[in-house]
Amino acid sequence: MNPISIVGAGPGATDLLTIRALDRIKNAEVLVWTDSLISPEIASLTSKTCEKFPTSSLTLEQIVSLLIKNASQGKKVVRLHDGDPCLYGAISEQICKLAEQGLEVEVIPGISAYQATAAQLKKELTIPDIVQTIVLSRAGGRTGIPEKEELEKLARIQASLCLYLSARHVEDVQSTLLKYYPEETAVAIGHRVTWKDEWLKIVPLKEMVSTTRKQGFFRTTLYIISPALNAYGQRSKLYYDGHKHLFRKQ
Ligand SMILES: C[S@@+](CC[C@H](N)C(=O)[O-])C[C@H]1O[C@@H](n2cnc3c(N)ncnc32)[C@H](O)[C@@H]1O
Repeated sequence: MNPISIVGAGPGATDLLTIRALDRIKNAEVLVWTDSLISPEIASLTSKTCEKFPTSSLTLEQIVSLLIKNASQGKKVVRLHDGDPCLYGAISEQICKLAEQGLEVEVIPGISAYQATAAQLKKELTIPDIVQTIVLSRAGGRTGIPEKEELEKLARIQASLCLYLSARHVEDVQSTLLKYYPEETAVAIGHRVTWKDEWLKIVPLKEMVSTTRKQGFFRTTLYIISPALNAYGQRSKLYYDGHKHLFRKQ
């Protein structure tokens, strides 16, 4: 039996798929896809005969039973997730249920929204002497996050903070962040980054809420809060002439 392919669709642009992801999508006989977050162009890369199931209105049990039914019939089944499946993809619960039925999976990575956003902005998120840590997280909201990871705690370190799934709670996010980051700190707001209708802008932290609400963003929106977005001209030690290392000796 073919393993079920859990495939990362990347942020939206079809040419940001990996070659392996494109291969699995093109050869899929059944595509179970996260239609609420994946651009339709990606889902249309399948063959004409591929049977497609959007998952936005399905429960975990319904999704898993679709996967099991079709994989058990020997079909090539792709479970397509937006971005990278290992980030907020809820793949762990799917893999566990499939394993209980003796079904194998492969996981194919994708470019995550934070990577696509930084690239579109032509920005590095780790600038020497300014910020060397990236935090990927989300606002608590209805589903909550563990207490030890509350935004309040993450904000204290002033890292490059990438917030997924947070537009609905942007008022709480901004007021928490303002306790720790200066109000002029750059915030990138990316909506449908790399889609044909992408909207992407850097605003001061104090305008995070007003900009989000003015644009009417609730879904498919990513924030990057980072002192790195405004940095200019810092030099790394790695390429500094006085810094000798294994590959560049005296
Ligand atoms: C369920 S999470 C999945 C994240 C995904 N696995 C990834 O690695 O990007 C969905 C959230 O990812 C972010 N997201 C995904 N694609 C995006 C895009 N093209 N532009 C902006 N944000 C995106 C948004 O924060 C959205 O609410």
